[in-house]
Amino acid sequence: MKPDIPAAPEANGPFSLSPLPFAHTALAPIISARTLRFHHGKHHKGYVDKLNALVMQRRLQDRSLMDLIQSMHGTKETEIFNNAAQVWNHDFYWQSLIPVGNKAAERKYSAELAHLIDESFGSIQALKAALVKTATAQFGSGWAWLVRDGARLKVMSTGNAEVPFTAGYTPLLALDVWEHAYYLDYQNRRDQHVTAVVDQLLNWSFAAENLASTADASSEAPTAVGV
Ligand code: FE2
Repeated sequence: MKPDIPAAPEANGPFSLSPLPFAHTALAPIISARTLRFHHGKHHKGYVDKLNALVMQRRLQDRSLMDLIQSMHGTKETEIFNNAAQVWNHDFYWQSLIPVGNKAAERKYSAELAHLIDESFGSIQALKAALVKTATAQFGSGWAWLVRDGARLKVMSTGNAEVPFTAGYTPLLALDVWEHAYYLDYQNRRDQHVTAVVDQLLNWSFAAENLASTADASSEAPTAVGV
């Protein structure tokens, strides 16, 4: 499952901040450059720095990010789990987004993804509505997800740093609904932020790649199609 970050021991810790896959201005006006600079450069980096400090203190610097998340989940090591999971969640979230106006990537559903969306939700419009509703309704900080649940897709949310895969779900797309993701641009209007992101910024090519990489994915070779 990606993204996983292998440990490579360094003086300040094994983990580094992944670069954004787009320019700070690329998501405006849906997500401003100012929000991205704080979100990536302060919040995401803060999780990386804290995780590095923790694993160096605890002599866990040879463990991969995924190993830390899986092994610390549900234990008393909540600080390590929370920071490791937030590093993973943010890496996954940035890849779930595409620059405004990138219609080619936005509409590039694989045949398998389009089929499962129709089977699971009835239409892409219904899926988008479910994502908006779930992301808006998540109480407090957390994440909304499009996941694979066996032979179907579903929309779900997780609180704080929780990840879907510890409960057996394969994440395809993530929406960050912590206030730091939208407060500078939308203040308390989370619903407006989420609606705009779901309408215009989701990277369906990334969702199709994640679907194709699942072990129990359909044997049919995915073919890029417009829907
Ligand atoms: Fe965040």
